[in-house]
Amino acid sequence: MGTVYAIANQKGGVGKTTTAVNVAACIAEAGYGTLLVDVDPQANATVGLGVARTQFPGLYEVLTGEARAQDALTSTSVPGLQILPAGAGLAGANVELPRMEGFEQRLRESLAPVVDSFAYVLLDCPPSLGPLTVSALVAADRVIVPVQTEYFALEGLAGLLETLALVRRELNPRLTVAGMLLTMHDARTRLGQDVEREVRAHFPDLVFDTVIPRNVRVGEAPSYGLPVTHHDPLSAGAEAYFELAKEVAARG
Ligand SMILES: Nc1ncnc2c1ncn2[C@@H]1O[C@H](COP(=O)(O)OP(=O)(O)O)[C@@H](O)[C@H]1O
Ligand SMILES: [Mg+2]
Repeated sequence: MGTVYAIANQKGGVGKTTTAVNVAACIAEAGYGTLLVDVDPQANATVGLGVARTQFPGLYEVLTGEARAQDALTSTSVPGLQILPAGAGLAGANVELPRMEGFEQRLRESLAPVVDSFAYVLLDCPPSLGPLTVSALVAADRVIVPVQTEYFALEGLAGLLETLALVRRELNPRLTVAGMLLTMHDARTRLGQDVEREVRAHFPDLVFDTVIPRNVRVGEAPSYGLPVTHHDPLSAGAEAYFELAKEVAARG
């Protein structure tokens, strides 16, 4: 049975895509078949893994029933890691999805035939709590919430947790939080230390031990179509993502 993780936070630029791509790559490298589903119309995960933004069919065609998920899977630069790319039409899904009967279940239903072919399935969510993110939360078993270590880190987390509670109550009772992940952390600054302390104090059991440092190699890897774990496996960013992948697997 494949475990499905949604990587979600309605804030943009907090490290969702970076986390989805790199955790997926680490798990694949450890020998587990992994699928990354690009649920964000910006297609950053797709492009960051060396696949064209316009790849067809993509998730849009899968959601509308024009294509089957198994026919949209694409190999990436990482052996053992496949992607279901966002594709060109996905932006329209935010408008069209809510018009479809039971749209919240569509992603879950359309992925069902492929989920068990993988040990892990990761869903990279867009920066909103709109229909695509809700669909991902309905399809997921667990959520990973990246939190950028900056001054307004906690802002918006209450709204996200409310949405998770609502989805759990009405649409997907098995959904749990795998953990919150501190990203782009700068341990040398007072601010970095303060924010880490504050987030851990607020959510004592939820925050992953592993913290992802701000690291130039992490930021430049997508321009090579590679996860940082392949772009520069010995970088601090790659090492942190390997540690995180172990922690995610250990939390089950
Ligand atoms: N640990 C890091 N160190 C340096 N840059 C990072 C790190 N994590 C993410 N970035 C960069 O920050 C930007 C936002 O990250 P991204 O993962 O795209 O966020 P989101 O998907 O939440 O919008 C991207 O340009 C990404 O390359
Ligand atoms: Mg993103």
